[in-house]
Amino acid sequence: MGDQAGTYDAAVERSKKLEAEITAHPENFRVLTGDRPTGRLHIGHYFGSLQNRVRLSKLGVPTCVLIADYQVLTDHDAFAEIAQNTKQLVIDYLAAGITPGKNTIIYPHSYVPEANQLMLPFLTLVSNAELSRNPTVKEEIQAAGLKSVNAGMYTYPVHQACDILFCKATVVPVGKDQLPHLEMTRTIARRFNEKFSPEKPVFPEPQALLSKTPSILGLDGSQKMSKSRGNAIMLCATEDETAALIKKAKTDSERTITYDPVNRPEVANLLMLISLCTDESPEAIAARIGDGGGGLLKKTLTESLNEKLRPIRAERARLEADPAYIRRVLLDGVDAARAMAVDTLQEVRRVMNMEI
Ligand code: TRP
Repeated sequence: MGDQAGTYDAAVERSKKLEAEITAHPENFRVLTGDRPTGRLHIGHYFGSLQNRVRLSKLGVPTCVLIADYQVLTDHDAFAEIAQNTKQLVIDYLAAGITPGKNTIIYPHSYVPEANQLMLPFLTLVSNAELSRNPTVKEEIQAAGLKSVNAGMYTYPVHQACDILFCKATVVPVGKDQLPHLEMTRTIARRFNEKFSPEKPVFPEPQALLSKTPSILGLDGSQKMSKSRGNAIMLCATEDETAALIKKAKTDSERTITYDPVNRPEVANLLMLISLCTDESPEAIAARIGDGGGGLLKKTLTESLNEKLRPIRAERARLEADPAYIRRVLLDGVDAARAMAVDTLQEVRRVMNMEI
């Protein structure tokens, strides 16, 4: 653990430096981010990663937003709703402020065959042992309680390298759990370059950009916010649903509200959520609520969250009524992604001496 924490601290340090470089020269970088289309997004996604993506693309960093539909098949039996979930994901992205266009594209990776084809050479650059010791993959296997594990589960980190390298992305905004995957991508890029093109590297080694927002707990205050754990507030929830969920949120028996993440994690989490909505410090909010207790804390959160999400929800509703536009966004994204993938695959074939 000590070792891992050390590595994580180093990643945080690197990420801070990277942030400064991106702010100074956004045009020198390319961001690639991705999500699995397993359902709609909640406020944990919004504050934890979506806002950060919006910020980066507004800075002018070319941004690819990838929807990892193939990856859903690694640990979910259900595939009936993949396309529907993909469209809902696009609606959440756009409503949150991601603006598709010249600088920013959104597309499902299953539609980019030339990028997927990189999987074949990449698989030859890693060993079985490396694949089976990936800690995130191990955790996912455990969490999903899989009786038998398909090979896609062990190899998806290699596919993630295809996702990231086909467009020569240099920056990947990630949470802690994705760091082993990014390490695998860097390893593949390095080994590919060393083996096939030592004079002139084909792929950059992309860097992790860690989110500055602390991880957001669910309304139970004890574990990560997630839809499957039933402790999330979805972006698409109504104001009344939001109020009802917050009413049931766990607090503690102490009346006076204070910000104490160690001893009062549930209350601290609610204060943090208010702080993310209003940009005040959680300490200042706690002082203001004081003896108003849990009731006033929840009322304040309900009001500030509903206010923050009101424009996003209105935009969501507008987009939901325009499926043709959502489809257009995806198809335009696919066209742009394929153009990059075709170029990269050609370059890859050339250095592997397979060009005919
Ligand atoms: N593995 C990521 C997840 O589980 C999704 C993903 C697929 C991804 N390809 C990616 C993330 C490329 C970043 C970059 O959420």
